[in-house]
Amino acid sequence: MSDQKADTATRKTRDRGLFIVFEGGEGAGKTTQAGLLTEWLESLGHTVLQTREPGGTELGKEIRELLLHGGQVDPRAETLLYAADRAQHINTLVKPALDRGETVVQDRYIDSSIAYQSGARGFDAAEIAGFSAWATGGLLPDLVILHDIDPLDGASRREQRGAAADRLERESLEFHRRVRETFLQRAGQDPQRYLVIDAMQTREAIAEQIRERVTQLLQR
Ligand code: TMP
Repeated sequence: MSDQKADTATRKTRDRGLFIVFEGGEGAGKTTQAGLLTEWLESLGHTVLQTREPGGTELGKEIRELLLHGGQVDPRAETLLYAADRAQHINTLVKPALDRGETVVQDRYIDSSIAYQSGARGFDAAEIAGFSAWATGGLLPDLVILHDIDPLDGASRREQRGAAADRLERESLEFHRRVRETFLQRAGQDPQRYLVIDAMQTREAIAEQIRERVTQLLQR
C-alpha cells in the first residue's frame, strides 16, 4: 500500500464507525469478551455489528467449514482461503456497516493471518499482510484487543468445555507457541493500536479493562 493510501486508511477513522478486533490463541475467551463488549456498547446506545473471521458471511461459513472441519488443506490454499473469506466479509458486511457509522466488534482479522500463516506456518510476513491488504483495500482496525494465553492453558480450557479440536487446534504445541509469540511481537510494535490482556484473569476483570480502553477510544 502506498503511503498516501495508508494515510487515508488511518484518517478515515473518525468519518466512520469504530472497528474493534479481538485476537488471541485458542481457548483465550475472546469470543465471550466480544459478546460482553457488544452488550455494553449497545447499552450505551451504539449500533453494533458483532461478527467473525472466518465465517461472518454465507460464503465465509462454507470456507470456515472447509478450513476447520474438512480434510487436508495445503498451507498456501489455507492462506488464500482465509484471504477470500476476509475479502467477502470486509467488502460486503464490515465496510458497509462502518460507513453507516456502526461499531464493528470482530473476532479475528489480519493479525490472525500473520500469526498463524506467517509466524506459525513460516510464510513471509509481508506477503501474508499483502494478501490481506489487497483483499480489504487496506482497512485497519482502530483497536486490537489481544487475549494472551499460554497454549497449554488454552487447550485445557477447550478440553474442559468438552469441545473437539478442529484442524488448527490439532497443530503442535510449538505451532501454537509461535502463534502466541507473533501476536505479542505485533502488539509490542504498536501499543497505540493494541491492548494486551492477560486472559487468565477473571471474566469481569478482563471486561473492565476492555471497557476502560474503549471508553478512551470513544472520547477521541
Ligand atoms: P476460531 O474462530 O474458533 O477462533 O477459529 C478460527 C481458526 O482459524 C483459529 O485456529 C485461527 C485460524 N485462523 C487463521 O489461521 N488465519 C486467519 O487469518 C484467521 C482469521 C483464523
